[in-house]
Amino acid sequence: MTSEFIKLEFDGPVALITIDRPKALNALNAQVLSELDHAIGQVAAHADARALVITGGGEKAFVAGADIAEMAQYTTAQALAFASRGHQVFARLESLSIPTIAAVNGFALGGGLELALACDLLYVSEKAKLGLPEVSLAVIPGFGGTQRLTRAVGKARARELIFTGDPVDANKAKEIGLALEVLAPEALLPRCKEVAHKIATRGPVAVAQAKRVIEAGADLPLKDANELERQAFALLFGTDDQKEGMKAFLEKRKAAFKNA
Ligand code: CAA
Repeated sequence: MTSEFIKLEFDGPVALITIDRPKALNALNAQVLSELDHAIGQVAAHADARALVITGGGEKAFVAGADIAEMAQYTTAQALAFASRGHQVFARLESLSIPTIAAVNGFALGGGLELALACDLLYVSEKAKLGLPEVSLAVIPGFGGTQRLTRAVGKARARELIFTGDPVDANKAKEIGLALEVLAPEALLPRCKEVAHKIATRGPVAVAQAKRVIEAGADLPLKDANELERQAFALLFGTDDQKEGMKAFLEKRKAAFKNA
């Protein structure tokens, strides 16, 4: 499949997806969603990938939302199909075993913020603006925003952002726990890649299990979630990497992990 709007690059163990449709501020239409889905599949199939960074092409936007021109004349059935497609692609992104990092380099609105929320870690540039403005268009978020934003920042903040439709700037995004760090525009991608490369040096099976347990446990009662952790902790002692990691520590050398 040739991609017009999605660029996928690998720098050793770190994958970088750029949503590159700057003329429409990287808005997500059906084609962009399909190409994104395909790129996520390629990352999943890449045995040596250890982390994924997602960013927006051009100077202004991460992603300014789902494509309003495409949606404007949708029937209810078409809207349902489009929302289903968005949910499916973002669920696939979320289900990657490797950590994912949103490098939010500008507007992350509507489907754009929803995409960033489907990533594990979110870093923003000083000029980022993040929000769910859908009620201004007389609709609501359709790619998971009402649920993932609420889980990320709590009901009260999510209600404020969703009912007013007003975006927050980078500092506010950090203050409310949406963004981890605010960076100068030119420092954003290097910082995200640095975090990705750091993660890539850690035990890959352990990182994948940590991701799985955090994600699955978040929707469970604490007792059941702790049980997931206990089982995963024990299972990791059946891996070669656990033996190598602890041996390397005791021998005061760098571990050489094999993802096994
Ligand atoms: N869909 C389609 N095209 C979009 C777009 C979108 N979400 N956002 C921007 N564009 C297009 C504009 O139409 C414009 O195209 P033309 O040059 O052909 O006119 C181009 O990108 C540049 O945009 P602006 O001229 O508007 O740029 P600006 O700097 O003046 O404003 C902005 C930037 C504030 C982000 C503004 O573009 C904007 O408000 N965009 C829409 C944001 C939005 O409402 N997003 C939510 C969409 S609904 C959704 O996402 C539903 C869901 O949950 C699934």
